[in-house]
Amino acid sequence: MAREQKASLCVLLFSILLLSKGSFGSESSKEEAYVTLLYGDEFLLGVRVLGKSIRDTGSDKDMVALVSDGVSDYSKKLLKADGWKVEKISLLANPNQVHPTRFWGVYTKLKIFNMTDYKKVVYLDADTIVVKNIDDLFKCSKFCANLKHSERLNSGVMVVEPSQALFDDMMRKVKTLSSYTGGDQGFLNSYYSDFPNARVFDPSLTPEALKARAVPDMERLSTLYNADVGLYMLANKWMVDDSKLHVIHYTLGPLKPWDWWTAWLVKPVDAWHSIRVTLEETLPGTGGGKNQKDELVVKLLFMLPLCALLFCIYRSIQGREGSLCNQIRYIYYKIRSNGTLGYSGVSTFSTLNSSYQLQSKVPQHLGAVSVVVCFTALLISVGVSFLIVPRQIMPWTGLILVYEWTFTIFFLLFGCFLLLVHQHGKKIAIQTESSSLDDSGKGHQRGGVPCDVTTLYYGLVMVFLAIAAVSLPYILGITALFLRLGLMVGVAIVLAAFMTYASEHLAIRWFLKGLEDRRETSRSKSICFLC
Ligand SMILES: *[C@@H]1O[C@H](CO)[C@@H](O)[C@H](O)[C@H]1NC(C)=O
Repeated sequence: MAREQKASLCVLLFSILLLSKGSFGSESSKEEAYVTLLYGDEFLLGVRVLGKSIRDTGSDKDMVALVSDGVSDYSKKLLKADGWKVEKISLLANPNQVHPTRFWGVYTKLKIFNMTDYKKVVYLDADTIVVKNIDDLFKCSKFCANLKHSERLNSGVMVVEPSQALFDDMMRKVKTLSSYTGGDQGFLNSYYSDFPNARVFDPSLTPEALKARAVPDMERLSTLYNADVGLYMLANKWMVDDSKLHVIHYTLGPLKPWDWWTAWLVKPVDAWHSIRVTLEETLPGTGGGKNQKDELVVKLLFMLPLCALLFCIYRSIQGREGSLCNQIRYIYYKIRSNGTLGYSGVSTFSTLNSSYQLQSKVPQHLGAVSVVVCFTALLISVGVSFLIVPRQIMPWTGLILVYEWTFTIFFLLFGCFLLLVHQHGKKIAIQTESSSLDDSGKGHQRGGVPCDVTTLYYGLVMVFLAIAAVSLPYILGITALFLRLGLMVGVAIVLAAFMTYASEHLAIRWFLKGLEDRRETSRSKSICFLC
């Protein structure tokens, strides 16, 4: 009796064990892994967000990051803290030496076919995110990928059954097979030349049906598993049902989701950022995808122009008889009396009589020179701002910092130019010593409040237009990339036209001012040219 009971208990236990194995998938999670590749620290944030997105969809499979020499020890530590298994790999040399050096090592991706510790791996590029569970992909056959336009497979998302024999075969053929990209993707297209004829993988297949069927050599994945942001941009929407999307792939070259400006151009980057902000602080100071070095730079960049501005204001108040209150009152008075943006400002510096004489003293090329200086200053300020602002900060921080620095550098450069013009005007006035000028300037500006409101107005209009160029598409709710860019370019053209006019006008204005102000020397030496 007792033996029989024992035996039946054993059978029961055994069958429970079998059942549980069957229902939870025949492979343990350790035989399957998500894999990505990291060539340098630039992609670290991308991999962190990818990992978080995988875990957010409830998957507990292994996550393996293959890292090459370019990745720092800190990045590896951070990835480990995030839950990645970090494996060092050496770059796989490009056998086609004709290609430029930037393609060196692009065959490295083939190494996932050599990850024989795992039965199956799902490879994801560092610029992808998973928005819906994709554990079903492990049911896919030996090799699965997406077919993109031009009937070519995309190597951004792949399901691979690693095999030493397969990998060795690839390594043998890597020298002979052509690669249209000069890299792994082109090679894989040659290696799996029959891929366009593969059937589409059906993720809803039951384990029984999977077992019953003949395993195909390769299968195609639907677009839902590799939704290309480039295609989204064309139609300004996903061509598939949004709610069924599984993997978003941010393919666009210079528009990687971790660069702050991308969020201002590409709508689907919002999804990436919503995951990024939830990144945990697995190492100190890394919550929300932050980075301690960038944080410090951001603080410095933010404070520096503000401190300089405060210093200027302080100097301009201290250096003159008028208090801040007086200056504000003066500006108010100016606005009331002028009523315009001061387009007629030149003549306010002198009486109508001498105006003509003054105008004739303006150097012939002053206008053209000022336009060239203005646009050169603009290019330099925008260029420098983009260079000094860290790329992987939050979109708002990036935008504000770039604006702050563009304005600061531009107004400093162009302000210096106006001061030079002012000095030049003075020099010419001293050289010519016309008696009529002596009278005209007297008692008008001298000793008064030195703020030049017109210059201030021009500056403000420029600032307004520059901000409008970026914010208008958002205010109008335009999300299409080309329409957004078009609108930005439109406002930018208006801004350029205004700057052409303003720079010429201001240069002449400051030159004439120099002619009149020749006796005063202190004012022009002020750092703050606006006040
Ligand atoms: C492929 O994997 C094997 C076994 O893991 C390893 O010995 C070999 O070095 C790998 N080949 C390359 C090129 O990485």
